[in-house]
Amino acid sequence: MTLQVDVVTIFPEYLAPLGVSLLGKAQERGLLDVRLHDLRTWTGDIHRTVDDSPYGGGPGMVMKPEPWGRALDAVVAAGGPAPAPRLLVPTPSGRPFTQEMALELAAEPWLAFACGRYEGIDSRVLEHAGDRMRVDEVSLGDYVLAGGEVAVLVVVEAVARLLPGVLGNAESHRDDSFAPGGMEGLLEGPVYTRPPVWEGREVPAVLQSGDHKRIARWRRDGALRRTAQRRPDLLAGLAERLDDRDRAVLEQAGFDCPPGAVAT
Ligand code: ADE
Repeated sequence: MTLQVDVVTIFPEYLAPLGVSLLGKAQERGLLDVRLHDLRTWTGDIHRTVDDSPYGGGPGMVMKPEPWGRALDAVVAAGGPAPAPRLLVPTPSGRPFTQEMALELAAEPWLAFACGRYEGIDSRVLEHAGDRMRVDEVSLGDYVLAGGEVAVLVVVEAVARLLPGVLGNAESHRDDSFAPGGMEGLLEGPVYTRPPVWEGREVPAVLQSGDHKRIARWRRDGALRRTAQRRPDLLAGLAERLDDRDRAVLEQAGFDCPPGAVAT
């Protein structure tokens, strides 16, 4: 199956990285079909205007509804593997984009992205689109980018690597930090490869021991410590999945364990 992705933007060249590396190969192999569209194609004036000043005043500019309305009509009319795509609109005021959302989007046949610039797109565009397709405003995080294009690169890469056949076995996403059943919501700990000594620094002996049970325990300890240090918010949701050893590791790392652990 192919995932069709339509992207409407005033900077199609910004999306060029979608043709490189893993996603470039996915496109060559027919697993991903990216179609870029220049919003200015659907402007109606000689200056190809896409923005105007905001009603109610304030700084910046707002993207005009007419070019967006025509652009989305054209994307739907050109067709895809469903009657309409699922529309994603990157914006710092959207719902946080997560691995869970990436998994959900990877199950869709057709995604469309509307890249806003300036202060965003006239709200009526998304309301109107909502009459015929599912529309989600998504945010990458609590910071402000110059436009939605980079967010599209992030979302499409996170989704496409989950499509069957895109990753080889060696790069499998099963163990990803945020994959259900993978690292179980823990951050991945440190990793090493050859040589065994580099710049006087040794690879931890346990990793060279061949004792898979000890290695798994050591990795889990590292994941717990790192998560406690960098993302204590993730541990709060794991209380009932921590065993006695987990709690001991966390307490040693100076982390106040959430109550409710069950020994496993
Ligand atoms: N556009 C501008 N900032 C953004 C953000 N943080 N996430 C998604 N889209 C954006």
